[in-house]
Amino acid sequence: MNGEKVIGILTGGGDCPGLNAVIRAVVWQGYRYGYKIVGIKNGWKGVLEKALMPLERKDVAGILHRGGTILGTSRTNIFKDEETANTAIQNIKEMGLYAIVAVGGEDTLSVAYKLSQRGINVVGVPKTIDNDIMGTDFTFGFDTAVSIATEAIDRIHTTAESHNRVLIVEVMGRHAGWIATYSGLAGGADVVLVPEHPIIVEDVCNIIKRRREAGKYFSIIVVAEGATIKGEDVVVASKKKDAFGHVQLGGIGQRLAELIEKQTGFETRVTVLGHIQRGGTPTAYDRVLATRYGVAAMECVKQEMFGKMVALQGKDINVIPLSTMTKDIKKVDESIYNLTKVFEY
Ligand code: F6P
Repeated sequence: MNGEKVIGILTGGGDCPGLNAVIRAVVWQGYRYGYKIVGIKNGWKGVLEKALMPLERKDVAGILHRGGTILGTSRTNIFKDEETANTAIQNIKEMGLYAIVAVGGEDTLSVAYKLSQRGINVVGVPKTIDNDIMGTDFTFGFDTAVSIATEAIDRIHTTAESHNRVLIVEVMGRHAGWIATYSGLAGGADVVLVPEHPIIVEDVCNIIKRRREAGKYFSIIVVAEGATIKGEDVVVASKKKDAFGHVQLGGIGQRLAELIEKQTGFETRVTVLGHIQRGGTPTAYDRVLATRYGVAAMECVKQEMFGKMVALQGKDINVIPLSTMTKDIKKVDESIYNLTKVFEY
């Protein structure tokens, strides 16, 4: 019944485990409803380049468990100027796309929101390992990243213990400390440091000193890459900015290690987990969440609910205005972060 309508799906921003599960779900539910589904390559860049790929059921066979995205991704801001925005809108019309399902984080979805304000039919699907998108309890990719970070912390434990060292694990989390908090709790970290709370180095040193006094000669600290030391700037790996004005974060673990060693005399080492957290196969939880999101996004298309995004709220997948996520970043839940304090010496 919807045979003439073509729906494009794209994945934008940093990749994350579960993207392929969303694509697969959109394709299957889309064809069930009688739409034609096409893939837009490399996020919003594909709109500027009119780069489409066929997406039929056979094209999504065997991808459910695969990390990354078969569509490719990029950080492209089509609203960087009016001319580019107009080209994008024109191209969407010329490609005959009735609607776009945009799977992305804060940047990709804010572009989706702006397009919807310009009359394009868009449905958003929230994704990021950082879990910092407003309006949804969880994004897929987060659970996988937490599992990877937790396993790393478990491994760090045995080597820290053997050497009586302080081991710092730097995890991702640009604006919010969700991964640090969850993996720190799951891995039994002694200190968890997040962007929401500036780090007071003296307090951290006191905790690990008290541990030594109690006979615990090693300590594990988990720090989010976006955390800052009180009075200092965020530590960056590169000042070069992406299309949305973000610098490349990295290095807070090393900075912290230098200060801890200096103030305590305890030997300290750093492990930066980096993109390992984004790679590889998604957990079962993320596959199911991504599948639910994909199916719900097609439900929105069918119901002509555009300018919306699907969101996990409690047990349910609800449909909320895309504008919700543009208002703010979702900071870590304080009641969960405070659990990490229960285990501090
Ligand atoms: O947004 C997810 C994220 O993984 C952040 O935690 C991190 O700061 C950023 O992406 C890294 O981006 P890139 O892969 O472009 O270096």
